[in-house]
Amino acid sequence: MSEKNILINNINVFAEETAASKAVAMQIKQAIEEKQSLGQPIILGLATGNTPKLVYHELVNMHKNEGLSFENVITFNLDEYYPMAPSHQLSYHNFMNMHLFSQVNILPENIHIPHGQWKAEELIEKCEDYERKIQELGGIDIQLLGIGRNGHIGFNEPGSTSDTRTRLIDLHEITRNDAAADFEGLHNVPYQAITMGIQTIMSAKKILLLALGDRKSVIIHKALTGEITANVPASYLRILPQIEFVLDAEAAVLINT
Ligand code: GLP
Repeated sequence: MSEKNILINNINVFAEETAASKAVAMQIKQAIEEKQSLGQPIILGLATGNTPKLVYHELVNMHKNEGLSFENVITFNLDEYYPMAPSHQLSYHNFMNMHLFSQVNILPENIHIPHGQWKAEELIEKCEDYERKIQELGGIDIQLLGIGRNGHIGFNEPGSTSDTRTRLIDLHEITRNDAAADFEGLHNVPYQAITMGIQTIMSAKKILLLALGDRKSVIIHKALTGEITANVPASYLRILPQIEFVLDAEAAVLINT
């Protein structure tokens, strides 16, 4: 099979963002329930940013209205700013609590997020621990991803190679600029972050990359049709059998599906 065929088979385009987000939430729900019927936990890799907000909203609705339980759900978040206090309004800890964790019945001990206050001298060990925990649980069943306008996944900025694992990384100028409005000024945006690596992400059994809106159309086109390169970290994903790109029509506008 040619690379192009693989690529096309793994793209799912929806007319608008709500339908795309609902489809992702539905896949996650089905996977949670499948594991529940087997009496097993499910390991979810979770993302932050604007893109997954509707997915989390749907999952919360499914919990409240359809009885979806999160008791067997174990989560590992992709990344966190560094340094960053978990209590900070813009921390990814706070984001996840607000949009998902505080609204469902997940057990607090099942939540894992890189800590923005890990001590510098312990960072390498803590990052290795994070990886070890994922592996000891049997790996990530479903990894939810967004995409940065420079092609980053998690905070794997351009230059991140396919063998990278959880680590501290310097944030790219585009990434810091994109976060500037939320932080009320570029000078307030952290310069670094802790992120799962490309290898960590690629080891997931299923990967759902969600991209919404026309501001993602250029990078989606590049990641799906350009060179597979560390300069566009998301490009590594498209040759994986377990990837699914879930797009709305605006994000997909430059690709022929
Ligand atoms: C941040 C996150 C990424 C996310 C990206 C895109 O950099 N670390 O995980 O995919 O932003 O964000 P948005 O979905 O808001 O466009």
